Amino acid sequence: MRRILVIGAMGMLGRDLVRMLRSSKGVNSREGLEVVGWDIDEIDIRQEGTTQAKIEQLRPDLVINLAAYTDVDGCEANREEAFRVNAKGMKHVALGAKACGAKVAYLSTDYVFDGRKREPYLESDSPNPLNVYGQTKLEGERYLQEQVEDYLIIRTQWLYGRYGRNFVSSILRQAKERKTLTIVDDQTGSPTYTVDLSRAILTLIDRNSRGIYHVANRDACTWYTFGQAILELSQVEGVSIVPISSSALGRPAVRPPYSVLNTQKLEQETGMSLRHWSEALKEYLGEVNFK
Ligand SMILES: NC(=O)c1ccc[n+]([C@@H]2O[C@H](COP(=O)([O-])OP(=O)(O)OC[C@H]3O[C@@H](n4cnc5c(N)ncnc54)[C@H](OP(=O)(O)O)[C@@H]3O)[C@@H](O)[C@H]2O)c1
Repeated sequence: MRRILVIGAMGMLGRDLVRMLRSSKGVNSREGLEVVGWDIDEIDIRQEGTTQAKIEQLRPDLVINLAAYTDVDGCEANREEAFRVNAKGMKHVALGAKACGAKVAYLSTDYVFDGRKREPYLESDSPNPLNVYGQTKLEGERYLQEQVEDYLIIRTQWLYGRYGRNFVSSILRQAKERKTLTIVDDQTGSPTYTVDLSRAILTLIDRNSRGIYHVANRDACTWYTFGQAILELSQVEGVSIVPISSSALGRPAVRPPYSVLNTQKLEQETGMSLRHWSEALKEYLGEVNFK
């Protein structure tokens, strides 16, 4: 019997990933696989002793840590808390996993990069985070690399999915309330569907991949272009979008202007390539009822 522990199982990505781990057959058969999903009610990764003890008691073969303080602007105001969850929390999970010889997978972010490269980021590119969220997630990566030899770090970006508030649901909600929306047009990335990301995570796990991998839906756009596609594909009429700059929006956290991830390593090693972001968006909009 193999046992996988997913921490952050009730989050947007966690709910898709756990469902898929429990139901689908991957490259390897998942027969005899036990999937345990924990969230903050079962394990608070800020607590060093209890986090380690609970993991050791469960004795998983693999721990997937998705738990994070994901409010990027909130992290600026609550720097200490962001560090406690995203960095120290990862360390506590790693120590628990190390004690029972488990592999660890960690979800990280494009915000570890500063966005000055202007072409898709490779796994080997040097990180230089611009905001507290990115800094604390990078610290989490480093704690994991220090503690556990058999680790998998998956950097992804611009997530949306069925089980959480996200950019797509927010744009559709705003379109019901206003005739004109303003969206930033000077940040470029790849919108990524949690279902597609979950499939890629499953593939990497099945292959027992190690190290850092960049995973995102194909091709890139700005938030403004993404917003236009959301309205168009949802056939929203009579609502216009005005492009604005990040400085005009004035959010507390600085975001990288360009944080597209190069996913060739995933493609070359696994033969898997994620579909174009607009195809994934279309499927998502067809599945979710935003009425
Ligand atoms: N969303 C994105 O665009 C994006 C982009 C790149 C990378 N990622 C990474 O992908 C992962 C999943 O993201 P997501 O969007 O699915 O996040 P999410 O919806 O915020 O889910 C995170 C889960 O972790 C829980 N959690 C928070 N603090 C915890 C703690 N101290 N102990 C245990 N659980 C805790 C949260 O509970 P509460 O809801 O009660 O706080 C939530 O259920 C994260 O590691 C994130 O950094 C996300």
